Amino acid sequence: MSLLHLDSSANRCPESLSRRLTAQFAGAWRARHPGGAYRHRDLAASSVPPLDAAFCALGRRAEHRGLVPLAQVAALAATPAERRAWAAARPLIEEILAASTILLGAPMYNFGVPAALKAWIDRVSFPGAFTDPGTGHSLLRTATVIAVTPRGGTYAPGTPRQDCDFQGPYLRAYFRRHGVAEENIHLVCPELTLAGLVPHLASSRPQAAASLASAEAQLTALAAAPDPAADTMGLLDLQRS
Ligand SMILES: Cc1cc2nc3c(=O)[nH]c(=O)nc-3n(C[C@H](O)[C@H](O)[C@H](O)COP(=O)(O)O)c2cc1C
Repeated sequence: MSLLHLDSSANRCPESLSRRLTAQFAGAWRARHPGGAYRHRDLAASSVPPLDAAFCALGRRAEHRGLVPLAQVAALAATPAERRAWAAARPLIEEILAASTILLGAPMYNFGVPAALKAWIDRVSFPGAFTDPGTGHSLLRTATVIAVTPRGGTYAPGTPRQDCDFQGPYLRAYFRRHGVAEENIHLVCPELTLAGLVPHLASSRPQAAASLASAEAQLTALAAAPDPAADTMGLLDLQRS
């Protein structure tokens, strides 16, 4: 079992709610899996550079060949810039492939996800990186994704901004597109997190408190739930015996 924990809030703890909640989940997960591997990346503190022309050129070359195993991509790099681009992307891709659970702290910024998280997504999405070149199956098909997605306002059905949520639906669509099973994608979404700060949201404080309590309970339940990757491994063991 392995947990990849990514934070992207520009705020530090304790001000950052997403950081507090991802830390809560990571603590519970590590207590439950004492032998499990754990990797934390702070994408706001150590930013992944935005894509450049070299990354795109290397990606196009790989795409042209079909599915290229990760170990063979370096040989396709034609320039020092392309070698640097691949050297930056490969460890990030290997981290995500090694993870049975991917935990994201992804607050809403201007209706979407923070640019720091988007830069990581763009880097790891190298053509074919998540596909088994032998079978064509997704290498993320047994992974679990837990995205903590707080937002200052509300985007619930029936509210004026119900069509403006490009944060949670984007993350769900991204991981589904790369083969993570729908039932293994969990969005934990405290709403109205600015109600304690912004005067015009003051009347929403009870709603905000209920939303936060519900998010905390959801994370506690997720940390206690069986890991689908462990179930899959058990099934494979049974099939072999
Ligand atoms: C740069 C920035 C942009 C934001 N944009 C939005 C927004 O579009 N909609 C919204 O509901 N809240 C927005 N917020 C509020 C945050 O989503 C909210 O405070 C969230 O709880 C922040 O998570 P954090 O505490 O982990 O940083 C924004 C906050 C910042 C700093």
